[in-house]
Amino acid sequence: MSKQTESFYNTFSIFYPLADVFLRAQKKVLFKETNDLPEGNLLEIGVGNGSHFKFYKKHCITGIDTSGAMLELARKQIVGNIRLLKMDGKALLFDDGQFDSVVISRVIAVVDDPGQLMAEVLRVLKPQGQVFILNHFTPDNWLRFIDHAFKPISKFLHFKSVFHVHDIPTIKKFRLLKEVHFGFASYFKLLIYQKK
Ligand SMILES: C[S@@+](CC[C@H](N)C(=O)[O-])C[C@H]1O[C@@H](n2cnc3c(N)ncnc32)[C@H](O)[C@@H]1O
Repeated sequence: MSKQTESFYNTFSIFYPLADVFLRAQKKVLFKETNDLPEGNLLEIGVGNGSHFKFYKKHCITGIDTSGAMLELARKQIVGNIRLLKMDGKALLFDDGQFDSVVISRVIAVVDDPGQLMAEVLRVLKPQGQVFILNHFTPDNWLRFIDHAFKPISKFLHFKSVFHVHDIPTIKKFRLLKEVHFGFASYFKLLIYQKK
């Protein structure tokens, strides 16, 4: 993550709950899927303000983020077995094969090098481990023109409005298990991959 993105999230952390309001349905599906997994070690990359913590039912959670301000907010949301660390998802300080699953919610189009992020995810996942990516992806339909129109502004908001999963080179090292769509006019998808 660039220093500018880190400082962007440090500055706007206080407004962050507003953005969360629009994704309740999508997140409900995400946590239904993670809670259906057997118990295990789950890493969430880019935990933000920790609004997800209350939804995790049985895993041992490690949450990381590069924004100190976001982590401060997240610390107040801790319930149960949750460890929080300031760390870059592109340079994880964990040994290989530590985690059963990884959650990346609205982070993959924020990091400057999603390929490196996914290479790190691959490394820290156990064999057959799963990764849950909830994000906006540029659709093939007319909505793609909105993404392209928004591109110059999105730089200032520190994310890529034009974003395709097939542009991430390391994604080929995972097997796609499930793709959940959220309706015709939604940019959001939940992609569930497994380490090959
Ligand atoms: C749009 S917010 C999403 C927060 C939360 N995951 C959610 O879905 O509500 C993006 C978060 O990712 C964090 N982030 C950005 N780049 C990161 C990186 N390279 N490593 C870890 N966290 C990162 C930001 O600080 C911010 O808290």
